[in-house]
Amino acid sequence: MAPIEVHLIAADGRSHTVRARVGRSLMRAAVDGRIDGIAADCGGCLNCATCHVVVDTAWAVKLPPPSSDEQAMLEMTAAPRQPTSRLSCQ
Ligand code: FES
Repeated sequence: MAPIEVHLIAADGRSHTVRARVGRSLMRAAVDGRIDGIAADCGGCLNCATCHVVVDTAWAVKLPPPSSDEQAMLEMTAAPRQPTSRLSCQ
């Protein structure tokens, strides 16, 4: 399957576009694309919340709801949680 492009806007307002493979996490695409602000300290094990992103509302409604474990970790994000906050490793 062909890669897709994902557009990210960093906390400082800079825009980035990374290529991602369908079926892999947004966190992996951001880390591979060397996007600052996605530390992903736990490597996607749902232990750190350093992969926090705020998903555009148009896309957030297309995602499955966060699991109870993701919900719990979203309470520990460094930046304030928003209505469409997600952990990009999930
Ligand atoms: Fe650690 Fe997502 S990378 S919770």
